[in-house]
Amino acid sequence: MRQENLLCMIAILFVTTIIFSINSAKAQKTPAETITLKVQDGKLAPVAFPHSVHAKAINCAVCHHKDKDPRTPEKCGTCHLAKKVKEKAPPIQDAFHTKCQTCHIEAKPKGASAPTKCNDCHKK
Ligand code: HEC
Ligand code: HEC
Ligand code: HEC
Ligand code: HEC
Repeated sequence: MRQENLLCMIAILFVTTIIFSINSAKAQKTPAETITLKVQDGKLAPVAFPHSVHAKAINCAVCHHKDKDPRTPEKCGTCHLAKKVKEKAPPIQDAFHTKCQTCHIEAKPKGASAPTKCNDCHKK
């Protein structure tokens, strides 16, 4: 009987540990290696954004610039609307273009293979 109780307690501990680790894994969203970026009603080909290439080399907060914890960021479109400026946040298309292109234009002369032409990002 006592041994059964002990086994039971061990089992409960085991299950709680698993539940706890699942919860903390959830708190940290894991982004895809490559994220397909597409604004609502976009006409051009969606942009394949190699997230992991960037996240390895660049500080998270450079892009996830308004998040309390950049490891659990909101989508850009939460604050950047389709067409309107909201609380000084430019519309989503401009937000992406400014963020992505400014850095690429600076990085390219230093030898980085960072696309700056329309069709290099909007691949057909
Ligand atoms: C560094 C990458 C990059 C380059 C270079 C770039 N764009 Fe974009 N563009 C994006 C991203 C990211 C979005 C938002 C996701 C999407 O495509 O819907 C976007 C969105 C757009 C949109 C709105 C969505 C749509 O499909 O209609 C238009 C229009 C657009 N870009 C036009 C251009 C034009 C024209 C050029 C060249 C002058 C250009 N872009 C160059 C990354 C880029
Ligand atoms: C060069 C810009 C850039 C850098 C640097 C970057 N990210 Fe991102 N990240 C993005 C973009 C763009 C998205 C897509 C957001 C969207 O869909 O609106 C994204 C998405 C994510 C998502 C998924 C969010 C969701 O709800 O879908 C997570 C998690 C994330 N990033 C974490 C990180 C972490 C952690 C780092 C640093 C180690 C990092 N990012 C660095 C641009 C970047
Ligand atoms: C929690 C809200 C929020 C999120 C999420 C957010 N932004 Fe912003 N963003 C703002 C606000 C507010 C401004 C205007 C005020 C400012 O620039 O400080 C802004 C300004 C900008 C600007 C123009 C100013 C500058 O820094 O050059 C760009 C570009 C930009 N955001 C890109 C992005 C991208 C790309 C993402 C997703 C990776 C993103 N933002 C996510 C709220 C947000
Ligand atoms: C702060 C700087 C910075 C920002 C912001 C940034 N990039 Fe980049 N990007 C780079 C650099 C540097 C490279 C070259 C990486 C290399 O050579 O390994 C690159 C490379 C790329 C490539 C080519 C990857 C390859 O393997 O050929 C694509 C596509 C790209 N970026 C898309 C984007 C898009 C879309 C955004 C905006 C959501 C963005 N980048 C924002 C710096 C940046």
